[in-house]
Amino acid sequence: MRKILVAGNWKMHGSKPMVRSLLEGLLAGSSADAKADLAVFPPFPYLSLTESILSGTHIRWGGQTLNPNAKGAHTGETSGSMLVDMGCSYVLVGHSERRSIYNESDKDVALRFKAALDAGLQPVLCVGETLEEREEEQTEAVVARQLDAVITQVGIEAFARATVAYEPVWAIGTGLTATPQQAQSVHAFIRDKMTALNVIIADQLRILYGGSVKGSNAAELFAQSDIDGGLVGGASLTAEDFLAIYSAVA
Ligand code: 13P
Repeated sequence: MRKILVAGNWKMHGSKPMVRSLLEGLLAGSSADAKADLAVFPPFPYLSLTESILSGTHIRWGGQTLNPNAKGAHTGETSGSMLVDMGCSYVLVGHSERRSIYNESDKDVALRFKAALDAGLQPVLCVGETLEEREEEQTEAVVARQLDAVITQVGIEAFARATVAYEPVWAIGTGLTATPQQAQSVHAFIRDKMTALNVIIADQLRILYGGSVKGSNAAELFAQSDIDGGLVGGASLTAEDFLAIYSAVA
């Protein structure tokens, strides 16, 4: 049985009282013995508070992005080693909002993925197609291109220390969830693609689904054979909603 991960990407949401009550609620409602790992991705200013609350517990945390450079004159940016210094285990790379709003190319994403590994972080590589690309039946081509850019940069073996998240752009924050069959089909495509390169790594790879995951649809999504958990946005902002998703697999 593959290990499941339920991760909450808070995006640009939060305040100190929200962080405290959310994390205390998650600690009270989750357990180290559960089948699923739990992780949160707070905005950078709250990583220190997150570390102080979660340190020594079963919940892990990560950054929402990182700069591909190790250090230097990059005003406003955050390096992988700084995230490690804040106790992070994970970092998101290539989230569709980074790709579309901040113009991160496939190559930029690959360099961030490498920087995460170099710093000792586990990258969570986000891939997924837009609605237009899906309608043009380009879903698999887009996902393959996004994966290939990273595989070319770091090699398939690097995925032993990484997670992939399939997040169809049209399902993010829209309330439109991919059906379990639509999601499973792309997850199986990703798994098959990795299997062709390295069977063991493909088998152990966690492939998360993201895009309007809720308590009401989580169990059916997570029951699919190639879905190994979720990357949750909106529903990760309250302990009650996030725990309803976690409970679907934990
Ligand atoms: P929503 O769950 O709000 O659709 O967001 C998904 C997401 O982008 C997680 O990274």
